[in-house]
Amino acid sequence: MKKRLRETLSSVLSPQDLRKVYSSFDVVGDIAIFRLPSTSSANAQTIAKAIMSVHRNVKTVLLQTSPVAGHLRLRRLTYVAGENKTNTVHKEFGCLFSVDVARCYFSPRLSHERMRIAGMVKPNETVVNMFAGVGCFSIITAKHSGAAKVFSIDVNPTAIQFMKENIKLNRVYAKVNPLLGDSKEIVNSRLQHVADRVLMPLPEKALAYLPSAVSALKTTGGWIHYYGFEHAAKTESPCEKAKLKVAEALGALGVDFEVPFVRVVRSTSPNWFQLVADVRIA
Ligand SMILES: C[S@@+](CC[C@H](N)C(=O)[O-])C[C@H]1O[C@@H](n2cnc3c(N)ncnc32)[C@H](O)[C@@H]1O
Repeated sequence: MKKRLRETLSSVLSPQDLRKVYSSFDVVGDIAIFRLPSTSSANAQTIAKAIMSVHRNVKTVLLQTSPVAGHLRLRRLTYVAGENKTNTVHKEFGCLFSVDVARCYFSPRLSHERMRIAGMVKPNETVVNMFAGVGCFSIITAKHSGAAKVFSIDVNPTAIQFMKENIKLNRVYAKVNPLLGDSKEIVNSRLQHVADRVLMPLPEKALAYLPSAVSALKTTGGWIHYYGFEHAAKTESPCEKAKLKVAEALGALGVDFEVPFVRVVRSTSPNWFQLVADVRIA
Protein backbone atom coordinates (compact mmCIF):
# COMPACT_ATOMS: atom_id res chain seq x y z
CA MET A 1 0.00 0.00 0.00
CA LYS A 2 2.84 2.37 0.99
CA LYS A 3 4.63 1.56 -2.26
CA ARG A 4 1.54 2.41 -4.31
CA LEU A 5 1.08 5.70 -2.47
CA ARG A 6 4.75 6.56 -2.92
CA GLU A 7 4.54 5.81 -6.66
CA THR A 8 1.40 7.94 -7.07
CA LEU A 9 2.92 10.86 -5.17
CA SER A 10 6.40 10.73 -6.65
CA SER A 11 5.05 12.21 -9.89
CA VAL A 12 3.76 15.37 -8.10
CA LEU A 13 6.17 15.87 -5.19
CA SER A 14 9.91 16.47 -4.90
CA PRO A 15 11.79 13.68 -3.05
CA GLN A 16 12.21 16.10 -0.11
CA ASP A 17 8.46 16.86 0.13
CA LEU A 18 7.63 13.19 -0.30
CA ARG A 19 9.84 12.38 2.70
CA LYS A 20 8.03 15.02 4.79
CA VAL A 21 4.58 13.62 3.86
CA TYR A 22 5.79 10.14 4.69
CA SER A 23 7.40 10.94 8.03
CA SER A 24 4.32 12.88 9.23
CA PHE A 25 1.54 10.72 7.80
CA ASP A 26 -0.78 9.11 10.39
CA VAL A 27 -4.15 7.40 10.18
CA VAL A 28 -6.37 7.84 13.26
CA GLY A 29 -9.58 5.83 12.85
CA ASP A 30 -10.83 6.88 9.41
CA ILE A 31 -8.97 10.23 9.39
CA ALA A 32 -5.61 10.68 7.67
CA ILE A 33 -3.37 13.52 8.88
CA PHE A 34 -0.24 14.70 7.09
CA ARG A 35 2.17 17.65 7.00
CA LEU A 36 3.83 19.45 4.11
CA PRO A 37 6.50 22.11 3.77
CA SER A 38 4.50 25.39 3.50
CA THR A 39 5.85 25.92 -0.01
CA SER A 40 4.02 22.83 -1.26
CA SER A 41 0.55 23.38 0.22
CA ALA A 42 -0.78 23.71 -3.34
CA ASN A 43 -0.32 19.93 -3.58
CA ALA A 44 -2.54 19.15 -0.59
CA GLN A 45 -5.58 18.18 -2.69
CA THR A 46 -3.54 15.86 -4.92
CA ILE A 47 -1.97 14.16 -1.90
CA ALA A 48 -5.38 13.77 -0.21
CA LYS A 49 -6.86 12.14 -3.33
CA ALA A 50 -3.89 9.76 -3.56
CA ILE A 51 -4.24 8.84 0.14
CA MET A 52 -7.97 8.15 -0.25
CA SER A 53 -7.50 6.08 -3.37
CA VAL A 54 -4.87 3.88 -1.69
CA HIS A 55 -6.27 3.76 1.87
CA ARG A 56 -9.91 2.84 1.20
CA ASN A 57 -10.82 3.08 4.91
CA VAL A 58 -9.85 6.78 5.05
CA LYS A 59 -12.93 9.03 4.89
CA THR A 60 -11.32 12.38 5.80
CA VAL A 61 -7.94 13.94 5.06
CA LEU A 62 -6.60 16.78 7.23
CA LEU A 63 -3.42 18.84 6.82
CA GLN A 64 -1.52 19.58 10.03
CA THR A 65 -0.54 23.26 9.82
CA SER A 66 1.12 23.78 13.21
CA PRO A 67 3.30 21.69 15.49
CA VAL A 68 1.73 20.01 18.53
CA ALA A 69 1.85 22.87 21.05
CA GLY A 70 0.55 24.41 24.27
CA HIS A 71 -0.15 22.68 27.56
CA LEU A 72 -3.01 20.64 26.02
CA ARG A 73 -0.63 19.41 23.26
CA LEU A 74 -2.97 20.33 20.37
CA ARG A 75 -2.20 21.07 16.71
CA ARG A 76 -3.94 23.14 14.03
CA LEU A 77 -5.65 20.94 11.43
CA THR A 78 -7.04 22.15 8.12
CA TYR A 79 -9.69 20.22 6.23
CA VAL A 80 -8.50 19.01 2.81
CA ALA A 81 -10.78 16.27 1.45
CA GLY A 82 -13.58 13.77 2.13
CA GLU A 83 -16.02 14.22 5.01
CA ASN A 84 -15.44 17.50 6.86
CA LYS A 85 -15.02 16.22 10.44
CA THR A 86 -12.44 15.83 13.18
CA ASN A 87 -14.19 13.11 15.25
CA THR A 88 -13.37 9.46 14.72
CA VAL A 89 -13.04 6.09 16.48
CA HIS A 90 -9.58 4.49 16.45
CA LYS A 91 -8.98 0.80 17.15
CA GLU A 92 -5.83 -0.34 18.97
CA PHE A 93 -5.14 -3.80 20.45
CA GLY A 94 -8.86 -4.59 20.54
CA CYS A 95 -9.74 -1.30 22.31
CA LEU A 96 -11.84 1.50 20.79
CA PHE A 97 -10.89 5.16 21.22
CA SER A 98 -13.37 7.86 20.33
CA VAL A 99 -11.46 11.12 19.79
CA ASP A 100 -11.73 14.60 18.33
CA VAL A 101 -8.25 14.98 16.84
CA ALA A 102 -8.54 18.79 16.80
CA ARG A 103 -9.49 19.11 20.49
CA CYS A 104 -7.50 16.28 22.09
CA TYR A 105 -3.97 14.91 21.80
CA PHE A 106 -3.80 11.58 19.99
CA SER A 107 -0.91 9.67 18.44
CA PRO A 108 -1.11 6.16 16.99
CA ARG A 109 2.71 6.15 17.13
CA LEU A 110 2.65 5.38 20.86
CA SER A 111 0.73 2.12 20.41
CA HIS A 112 3.76 -0.15 20.95
CA GLU A 113 4.62 1.79 24.12
CA ARG A 114 1.07 1.52 25.47
CA MET A 115 1.10 -2.27 25.08
CA ARG A 116 4.65 -2.53 26.48
CA ILE A 117 3.54 -0.79 29.67
CA ALA A 118 0.37 -2.91 29.96
CA GLY A 119 2.59 -5.99 29.66
CA MET A 120 4.61 -4.93 32.73
CA VAL A 121 1.61 -4.44 35.04
CA LYS A 122 1.21 -7.21 37.66
CA PRO A 123 -2.14 -8.50 38.98
CA ASN A 124 -3.91 -6.18 41.46
CA GLU A 125 -1.65 -3.19 40.83
CA THR A 126 -2.89 0.36 41.29
CA VAL A 127 -1.72 2.61 38.45
CA VAL A 128 -1.73 6.42 38.27
CA ASN A 129 -1.60 7.90 34.77
CA MET A 130 -0.66 11.59 35.22
CA PHE A 131 -1.20 12.69 31.58
CA ALA A 132 -3.88 10.39 30.22
CA GLY A 133 -5.43 12.20 27.20
CA VAL A 134 -8.51 10.31 25.99
CA GLY A 135 -7.39 7.31 28.05
CA CYS A 136 -5.29 5.17 25.69
CA PHE A 137 -2.57 4.02 28.15
CA SER A 138 -5.16 3.71 30.95
CA ILE A 139 -7.70 1.66 28.99
CA ILE A 140 -5.15 -0.61 27.28
CA THR A 141 -3.64 -1.26 30.72
CA ALA A 142 -7.08 -1.99 32.20
CA LYS A 143 -7.96 -4.35 29.32
CA HIS A 144 -4.66 -6.16 28.90
CA SER A 145 -3.38 -6.52 32.47
CA GLY A 146 -4.66 -7.57 35.86
CA ALA A 147 -4.52 -3.99 37.22
CA ALA A 148 -7.06 -3.40 39.98
CA LYS A 149 -7.40 0.36 39.46
CA VAL A 150 -6.12 3.01 37.03
CA PHE A 151 -6.44 6.66 38.11
CA SER A 152 -6.52 8.48 34.78
CA ILE A 153 -5.82 12.23 35.02
CA ASP A 154 -5.97 14.95 32.36
CA VAL A 155 -6.28 18.73 32.50
CA ASN A 156 -8.19 19.00 29.19
CA PRO A 157 -11.98 18.82 29.88
CA THR A 158 -12.63 17.64 26.29
CA ALA A 159 -10.11 14.80 26.67
CA ILE A 160 -11.84 13.76 29.91
CA GLN A 161 -15.23 13.82 28.14
CA PHE A 162 -13.84 11.45 25.46
CA MET A 163 -12.07 9.37 28.12
CA LYS A 164 -15.44 8.80 29.86
CA GLU A 165 -16.96 7.74 26.53
CA ASN A 166 -14.01 5.39 25.93
CA ILE A 167 -14.33 3.87 29.40
CA LYS A 168 -17.93 2.98 28.45
CA LEU A 169 -17.01 1.77 24.94
CA ASN A 170 -14.40 -0.59 26.40
CA ARG A 171 -16.42 -1.55 29.50
CA VAL A 172 -13.67 -0.72 32.00
CA TYR A 173 -15.79 1.43 34.38
CA ALA A 174 -14.84 -0.73 37.35
CA LYS A 175 -11.12 -0.20 36.76
CA VAL A 176 -10.51 3.22 35.16
CA ASN A 177 -11.25 6.32 37.23
CA PRO A 178 -11.23 9.55 35.13
CA LEU A 179 -10.01 12.65 36.99
CA LEU A 180 -10.08 16.19 35.56
CA GLY A 181 -7.39 18.62 36.68
CA ASP A 182 -3.69 19.30 37.03
CA SER A 183 -2.06 15.99 37.90
CA LYS A 184 0.34 17.54 40.43
CA GLU A 185 -2.60 19.04 42.35
CA ILE A 186 -4.67 15.85 42.14
CA VAL A 187 -1.79 13.60 43.22
CA ASN A 188 -0.76 15.95 46.03
CA SER A 189 -4.30 16.29 47.39
CA ARG A 190 -5.88 12.87 46.72
CA LEU A 191 -3.43 10.24 45.53
CA GLN A 192 -0.56 10.14 48.02
CA HIS A 193 1.08 6.69 48.45
CA VAL A 194 -1.59 4.74 46.54
CA ALA A 195 0.23 3.53 43.41
CA ASP A 196 2.39 0.58 42.42
CA ARG A 197 3.11 2.30 39.10
CA VAL A 198 2.96 5.87 37.76
CA LEU A 199 2.85 6.76 34.05
CA MET A 200 4.17 10.15 32.90
CA PRO A 201 3.52 10.30 29.12
CA LEU A 202 4.11 14.05 28.76
CA PRO A 203 7.78 14.76 27.99
CA GLU A 204 7.39 18.53 28.47
CA LYS A 205 6.34 18.19 32.12
CA ALA A 206 7.64 14.84 33.31
CA LEU A 207 10.78 16.21 35.00
CA ALA A 208 8.94 18.98 36.88
CA TYR A 209 6.22 16.55 38.00
CA LEU A 210 8.64 13.79 39.09
CA PRO A 211 8.43 14.65 42.84
CA SER A 212 4.62 14.23 42.68
CA ALA A 213 5.01 10.93 40.81
CA VAL A 214 7.30 9.66 43.59
CA SER A 215 4.80 10.77 46.24
CA ALA A 216 1.99 8.88 44.45
CA LEU A 217 3.89 5.60 44.93
CA LYS A 218 3.21 3.34 47.92
CA THR A 219 5.74 3.65 50.75
CA THR A 220 7.02 0.22 49.68
CA GLY A 221 8.05 1.75 46.31
CA GLY A 222 7.14 0.90 42.73
CA TRP A 223 7.72 1.90 39.12
CA ILE A 224 7.68 5.23 37.31
CA HIS A 225 7.55 5.31 33.49
CA TYR A 226 9.17 8.61 32.63
CA TYR A 227 8.87 10.07 29.10
CA GLY A 228 11.29 12.81 28.07
CA PHE A 229 12.79 14.61 25.09
CA GLU A 230 16.55 14.70 24.63
CA HIS A 231 18.84 16.43 22.19
CA ALA A 232 21.85 14.30 21.31
CA ALA A 233 24.67 14.93 18.88
CA LYS A 234 25.99 11.97 16.86
CA THR A 235 28.66 11.35 19.50
CA GLU A 236 26.17 11.36 22.39
CA SER A 237 23.67 8.78 23.64
CA PRO A 238 20.17 10.22 24.17
CA CYS A 239 19.41 7.31 26.53
CA GLU A 240 22.41 8.07 28.75
CA LYS A 241 21.48 11.77 28.81
CA ALA A 242 17.90 10.97 29.86
CA LYS A 243 19.12 8.53 32.51
CA LEU A 244 21.45 11.16 33.95
CA LYS A 245 18.68 13.78 34.07
CA VAL A 246 16.29 11.42 35.89
CA ALA A 247 19.07 10.27 38.25
CA GLU A 248 19.94 13.87 39.17
CA ALA A 249 16.29 14.74 39.90
CA LEU A 250 15.73 11.59 41.98
CA GLY A 251 19.08 12.02 43.76
CA ALA A 252 17.96 15.50 44.83
CA LEU A 253 14.80 13.95 46.30
CA GLY A 254 16.89 11.51 48.32
CA VAL A 255 15.10 8.36 47.13
CA ASP A 256 16.67 4.98 46.37
CA PHE A 257 16.20 4.09 42.73
CA GLU A 258 17.52 2.21 39.72
CA VAL A 259 16.90 2.80 36.01
CA PRO A 260 17.06 -0.68 34.48
CA PHE A 261 15.66 0.26 31.08
CA VAL A 262 15.76 3.29 28.78
CA ARG A 263 14.84 3.32 25.09
CA VAL A 264 14.25 5.75 22.26
CA VAL A 265 10.50 5.77 21.52
CA ARG A 266 10.95 7.80 18.32
CA SER A 267 13.06 10.48 16.79
CA THR A 268 11.11 13.76 16.63
CA SER A 269 13.47 15.87 14.45
CA PRO A 270 17.16 15.72 13.55
CA ASN A 271 19.10 15.00 16.79
CA TRP A 272 15.95 15.13 18.95
CA PHE A 273 14.54 11.98 20.54
CA GLN A 274 11.57 10.98 22.65
CA LEU A 275 12.66 8.49 25.31
CA VAL A 276 11.14 6.36 27.99
CA ALA A 277 12.92 5.44 31.20
CA ASP A 278 11.52 2.67 33.42
CA VAL A 279 12.50 3.74 36.92
CA ARG A 280 12.25 1.48 39.95
CA ILE A 281 11.90 3.31 43.26
CA ALA A 282 12.80 1.27 46.36
C1 LIG B 1 1.23 13.82 25.12
S1 LIG B 1 -0.43 13.77 25.71
C2 LIG B 1 -0.53 12.09 26.27
C3 LIG B 1 -1.83 11.50 25.93
C4 LIG B 1 -2.01 10.01 26.21
N1 LIG B 1 -1.16 9.49 27.23
C5 LIG B 1 -1.99 9.17 24.97
O1 LIG B 1 -1.29 8.15 24.92
O2 LIG B 1 -2.69 9.49 24.01
C6 LIG B 1 -0.33 14.67 27.19
C7 LIG B 1 -1.66 14.95 27.86
O3 LIG B 1 -1.37 15.62 29.09
C8 LIG B 1 -2.38 16.57 29.36
N2 LIG B 1 -1.84 17.52 30.32
C9 LIG B 1 -1.03 18.59 30.09
N3 LIG B 1 -0.70 19.19 31.26
C10 LIG B 1 -1.30 18.49 32.25
C11 LIG B 1 -1.34 18.60 33.65
N4 LIG B 1 -0.67 19.56 34.28
N5 LIG B 1 -2.04 17.70 34.36
C12 LIG B 1 -2.75 16.70 33.73
N6 LIG B 1 -2.76 16.55 32.38
C13 LIG B 1 -2.03 17.42 31.66
C14 LIG B 1 -2.75 17.13 28.00
O4 LIG B 1 -4.05 17.67 28.01
C15 LIG B 1 -2.60 15.88 27.10
O5 LIG B 1 -3.84 15.24 26.92
